[in-house]
Amino acid sequence: MLRNDEWRWGAIAKFFHWTIALLILGNGVFGLLMDLARSPMQKVDWMALHKSIGLTVLALFLLRLLWRAFNRPPRELPAPRWQLWAARIVHGVLYLLVAALPLSGWWFNSVRGYPLQYFKLFNLPAIAAKNPDLRRLSHEVHEYLFWFLLLVLVAHVGAALKHHVFDNDDVLRRMWPFARLRHGPKGDSE
Ligand code: HEM
Ligand code: HEM
Repeated sequence: MLRNDEWRWGAIAKFFHWTIALLILGNGVFGLLMDLARSPMQKVDWMALHKSIGLTVLALFLLRLLWRAFNRPPRELPAPRWQLWAARIVHGVLYLLVAALPLSGWWFNSVRGYPLQYFKLFNLPAIAAKNPDLRRLSHEVHEYLFWFLLLVLVAHVGAALKHHVFDNDDVLRRMWPFARLRHGPKGDSE
């Protein structure tokens, strides 16, 4: 099933969710480890790879939003009002972070005056003028956004696991690749 239905996320939404999750987390850890490069040349290569993966996340984010506009999410499962709102807010913040992380990297890169190439395929322009006064700030914004993402993820993953383990509902199952629903259209509680 490619599209979402009333009960579960379709393959395309799952593909976006899990690919972006893996890429953004992997790329953040990679960013933190880039100082382990054994030579300045290796660091330049690693940075180029880090930037290209980050730009891929940005492109996937745009496609994901487009897809979401055309394919409505499944129905919210019954829960207290405050939990529904908490989930909506956390999801909104996560979407903002998925865009803000690569954009802040692009901003930092531009402020430093570094070149930007997508996987050695084509060049991309700077999005801000070179400015030594903003180097530190843009670097910190880029790094701290990643720490903030990890913090928000504690709530997001914690909630997903709470639903799965304590409530034993389908919140995690309906996002998990290839999982069967327990309480869905043909489930035992229908
Ligand atoms: C950096 C990593 C992640 C990001 C940025 C992220 C982001 C999001 C966003 C934005 C949504 C809302 C989708 C929408 O309404 O269009 C969502 C849904 C969901 N996420 Fe994540 N997520 C991440 C990692 C995870 C992990 C590790 C888990 C599970 C352990 C998880 C479980 C879920 C579930 C179950 C839903 C569906 C909730 C529902 O159906 O109401 N996510 N995620
Ligand atoms: C998935 C998106 C991204 C994430 C999660 C991410 C995360 C990070 C993190 C955590 C660091 C380490 C900060 C430090 O300890 O100094 C870093 C460094 C860096 N990032 Fe990103 N980044 C992303 C995308 C980008 C993009 C798209 C660009 C440029 C267009 C970029 C440019 C840089 C640069 C140049 C550094 C090196 C800073 C230095 O050590 O001089 N990042 N990134």
